[in-house]
Amino acid sequence: MNLMPPRVRKAVFPAAGLGTRFLPATKAQPKEMLALVDKPIIQYGVEEALASGIDNIIIVTGRGKNAIEDHFDVSYELEKILEEKGKTDLLQVVREISDMIHVSYIRQKEALGLGHAVLTARELVGEEPFAVLLADDVIDAPVPALRQMLDVYEATGASVIAVQPVPREVISSYGVINPSPDQAPAGRFAGPIARIADLVEKPRPADAPSDLAVVGRYVLTPAIFDCLERTQRGAGGEIQLTDALRMLARREPMYALTLAGRRHDTGDKLGFLQATVELALKRADLGEPFRAYLRALKP
Ligand code: UTP
Repeated sequence: MNLMPPRVRKAVFPAAGLGTRFLPATKAQPKEMLALVDKPIIQYGVEEALASGIDNIIIVTGRGKNAIEDHFDVSYELEKILEEKGKTDLLQVVREISDMIHVSYIRQKEALGLGHAVLTARELVGEEPFAVLLADDVIDAPVPALRQMLDVYEATGASVIAVQPVPREVISSYGVINPSPDQAPAGRFAGPIARIADLVEKPRPADAPSDLAVVGRYVLTPAIFDCLERTQRGAGGEIQLTDALRMLARREPMYALTLAGRRHDTGDKLGFLQATVELALKRADLGEPFRAYLRALKP
C-alpha cells in the first residue's frame, strides 16, 4: 500500500496586490520587485521554493507587473553586453535567474483579494496539492521555510499553515489560529505542530485565541478551491483566504507549524528596512564594511 500523499509540485505566488503601503515606490513598479540588498523580494521566495524541491512556479500578476515577467525571462541584450565586456560572474548571476525555473503567469484582472488571487490559479494548479508563498514574507532560515512545511504535509497529507508567535500588542495585524487540543501528528518536525480548530482574521488582543500569527506560507489540498468558490465577498468586495481556510479546517484536518527562522515583513516599510540591514550584514562581500559603517553612525 502506498501511504505517501500526492507530491506537491507547484508553488503559487500571488503578486497582484496594489502595494499601497509602499507608495509612491509601487506606483509604476510591483512591490515584489523592490530589491533587498541586490535581489528583488520575489526572487527570495522563488529560491526558497526551489530549495524546497518545487520548481513549477505560478505567479499571479496584475496590472503593471511586467517587470516580474521580464525578471525571470532571458535578457539577450544584457547577456550579450556582459559577455562582450568579459563580466562572466555577472553573466552567471543573470543567467541563473532565467535558468532557475519553469514559470507560468496568470492574470488576476481585478485585485479582489488574496483568496481570489489563489482561486485565479486554479486552472494552472489543477486537482493536486500546492504551495502558496506570499513573497512579502521573507523567511531567513537554515532549513527553507517551505521545506519545513512539506515535511509536515508528507507525514500527514493534510494542509499546513505556517505560524509564528507575535506579541499581543501587534496581534490585530494578523490572521491568528485557534489551536485545538487534539493530538499533533507523530514525527520530528522543524517546530511545534498544532491541529487548527479555527482561524480569526485580525482579532482584538483580548479576543485572540492564541499568539500564533499566520505567516505567508501555505501548503494546501485542492479542496481549498471549492471552499474559495463558496466564500462570500467580504470587506471591500474581497474574497478572503482566511474565510476559505476556516471552511477547509471544518472539512479536513489542518495543521499549523511554528516555523523555525527569522521572518521579515517586507511589505511594511520598517520591516523592509530591517530585512535590508540584516541580510546585508550576513553577506560575505558586504557584511564587514556595512557593520563598520553602522557602528560609526552617530546616535
Ligand atoms: P497584501 O495584504 O499585502 O496587499 O496582500 P497588497 O495590496 O499587496 O499591499 P498593501 O497592503 O496595499 O500595501 C497579500 C498578498 O496577496 C497578494 C499581494 O500581492 C500579496 O502578495 N494579493 C492581494 C493579490 O495577489 N491579489 C489581491 O487582490 C490582493
